[in-house]
Amino acid sequence: MKSIILLISFLAIANAANILYISNVPSPSHFIWCKAILHSLHERGHNLTVLSPDVEESKPNLTFLHLDKVYSEIYNGTEEMNFLEFNKLGAIELFNVYTDVSKKSCKGSIESKGFKQFMEYPNDFKFDLVLHDITMDPCLLLIFSRIGDIPMIGLSAFNSPGVLGANLLYPAFVPAHDLVYSANMNFFQRLNSLFAHLVEYVFRDYIIDPAVDKIVHQYYPDIPNIATYKKNYKMYLINNEQITDHKQPVFPNQKNVGGLQVKKPKKLPDNLKAFADSATNGLVLFSLGTNVRSDSLGEESLLKILKALGRLNKYKFLWKFETTEKLPIDLPKNVKIQAWMPQNDVLAHKNTKLFISHCGLLSTQESLWYGVPVLGFPVFADQPQNALRLKDLKVSETLEILDFTEDGLYETIKKLLEDPKYSKNAEQISKALHDRPMSALEEATYWTEWLLRNPDIDLEGPAADMNLFQRHSLDLYTFILFIELIILYVLYKIEKFLYNLFCGKKTKVQVKSDKKRN
Ligand SMILES: *[C@@H]1O[C@H](CO)[C@@H](O)[C@H](O)[C@H]1NC(C)=O
Ligand SMILES: *[C@@H]1O[C@H](CO)[C@@H](O)[C@H](O)[C@H]1NC(C)=O
Ligand SMILES: *[C@@H]1O[C@H](CO)[C@@H](O)[C@H](O)[C@H]1NC(C)=O
Repeated sequence: MKSIILLISFLAIANAANILYISNVPSPSHFIWCKAILHSLHERGHNLTVLSPDVEESKPNLTFLHLDKVYSEIYNGTEEMNFLEFNKLGAIELFNVYTDVSKKSCKGSIESKGFKQFMEYPNDFKFDLVLHDITMDPCLLLIFSRIGDIPMIGLSAFNSPGVLGANLLYPAFVPAHDLVYSANMNFFQRLNSLFAHLVEYVFRDYIIDPAVDKIVHQYYPDIPNIATYKKNYKMYLINNEQITDHKQPVFPNQKNVGGLQVKKPKKLPDNLKAFADSATNGLVLFSLGTNVRSDSLGEESLLKILKALGRLNKYKFLWKFETTEKLPIDLPKNVKIQAWMPQNDVLAHKNTKLFISHCGLLSTQESLWYGVPVLGFPVFADQPQNALRLKDLKVSETLEILDFTEDGLYETIKKLLEDPKYSKNAEQISKALHDRPMSALEEATYWTEWLLRNPDIDLEGPAADMNLFQRHSLDLYTFILFIELIILYVLYKIEKFLYNLFCGKKTKVQVKSDKKRN
């Protein structure tokens, strides 16, 4: 038996491939997700070249080429983005921000050292597969002008395959990610969802793509329109999962590998472990993720939080908090703060009974995976909708980060910890998520290697080449409506003609005689 397994793994490694990963997405959390796939492929013996604004130390068969100008181009001189302000932007303003980020990230990528290194690779160095983070724009597809057309997989740590171009749009039962709607929408919500989907579609295809194309052509005037390289997408690996995400049909070329970043839990570091083990009445993890710093909430909010947590002294709280100087009062005894938190391992701890979270997608998935109820403090982007989704799954309550009271926070935490329905529902969902033939990461790795073995099999069909109207049969519905209108018009004309022919005069006479009688 052992020798068969050895033989199989030997065969797999014998087919080791040269894989190129490209991303210009300036987001450490997105990279955490993609990185899980890269490491898994590396462990399988493939040779990976990683072109990215986020990098690690290179090692044999895992070469990082740093897109070192992406972050600096976007943040140049300015303060870090104030994500709390994003909360107040409308859809169009937000997409204007995204367009601007895309343009800067494209320019930064092309001017980076890592990109230049890559463009100087010897011509005879061949890649077998490209992995592209499709969350933003197609800027880096320009590398195809150098390496020639080879199969490509689109990846995203985002869970909206429709707007990423990996699937059809289903505005009727998949609310646009920036709307705080449940999947079950009324007519006007569906209309709004359609509108929001179309705004994003138009922005991505007709505003962001050409803007990025223009930048690419400033550096490489002779290459074709950047969107032409989209034909190389053969498959998509999307951070969508079919039990708790909005339900939607997918093409066979889309693999839902949601939550693949969730790691096998490790033992906590000693100081955290002692604190967590001692929280026998319940441990609460509090983290607003990587974009919003807890210490940027302002003194007033911090005071409310510290007071509420202090009153709940039966429980213990672990808070990801960046700088101790910013604390307005002494830390209550039952609260421990730390700048960095092994979130996965804390959520896996048996005493952890609640997660106070910004409801970023990765955190949302981790809480569901470990069956931990959530108090949502969503801030921006898809976070408010993730929070609502958790609420619809009956595992959470939500508060407003810019508008909550000490008592409201106290009561909500108490309710989530003391009403058993939340943990019962969370455990049930966790059980269903664990019940699968192979892990999401194994699945992502499997399908990547499947594509390496079967690069010429088409899993999408003609839909790939259709425009939005054709893909959704809108041209056909419009045609039918048009024919119906013509038929109605012709029937109307015939009826009018027949009416005039047989009844027209008679009626006039009748009207006249009626008048006379009156
Ligand atoms: C590195 O990758 C090559 C294929 O590109 C493979 O043949 C080799 O076994 C890999 N080496 C290691 C140490 O994994
Ligand atoms: C792996 O890829 C790098 C390019 O990023 C290359 O320099 C190296 O020679 C490759 N290794 C093998 C074993 O093919
Ligand atoms: C940063 O901004 C200054 C002007 O404010 C400009 O001169 C400089 O070139 C910018 N640097 C980058 C990397 O964009």
